[in-house]
Amino acid sequence: MDSSLDPPGTVSVLFVCLGNICRSPLAEGVFRHRVEEAGLQDRIRIDSAGTGGWHVGEPPDARSREVARAHGVSLDGQSARRVSPDDLRRWDWIVAMDRANLDDLERLRERHGGDGRIVLLRDFDPEPGDGEVPDPYYGGPQGFDRVYEMVDRSCAALLERVLEAS
Ligand code: 4NP
Repeated sequence: MDSSLDPPGTVSVLFVCLGNICRSPLAEGVFRHRVEEAGLQDRIRIDSAGTGGWHVGEPPDARSREVARAHGVSLDGQSARRVSPDDLRRWDWIVAMDRANLDDLERLRERHGGDGRIVLLRDFDPEPGDGEVPDPYYGGPQGFDRVYEMVDRSCAALLERVLEAS
């Protein structure tokens, strides 16, 4: 499969973290919420995936679902999956949560090809901090609140950038 198989005018955005149960499902949900609010759901294809396979088939972590729900964002219907070489060809934007994810994606592309733009989500954050969305998996709920705030700011700016570039 290939992103050029999308209908003309469609843009595709894939969010990637390590486990695909905490950060990237939240980014997928927040971005989808903004896209739907803007009435752009027919123009933008969205998904998320993890570089690791430990949680394949699981729903998002309850702490991600809870912080999303508290902000009116649903993560219903999401199920963890692992990034595949095909993803490097199927997505226009491949948005990594941290530099380890970014490095893994670039290595995958070196081996298998593909021409999606691989970027860090916080490159779009007006308050970028150290440029990474930290892994909240082993911490408490406050970590998820912080992650939500950075993901929300970054997704708003990413949507503008994606629309400008399309
Ligand atoms: P995520 O968080 O990459 O934001 O989904 C993690 C979830 C699970 C693990 C690591 C990070 N794990 O090692 O199982």
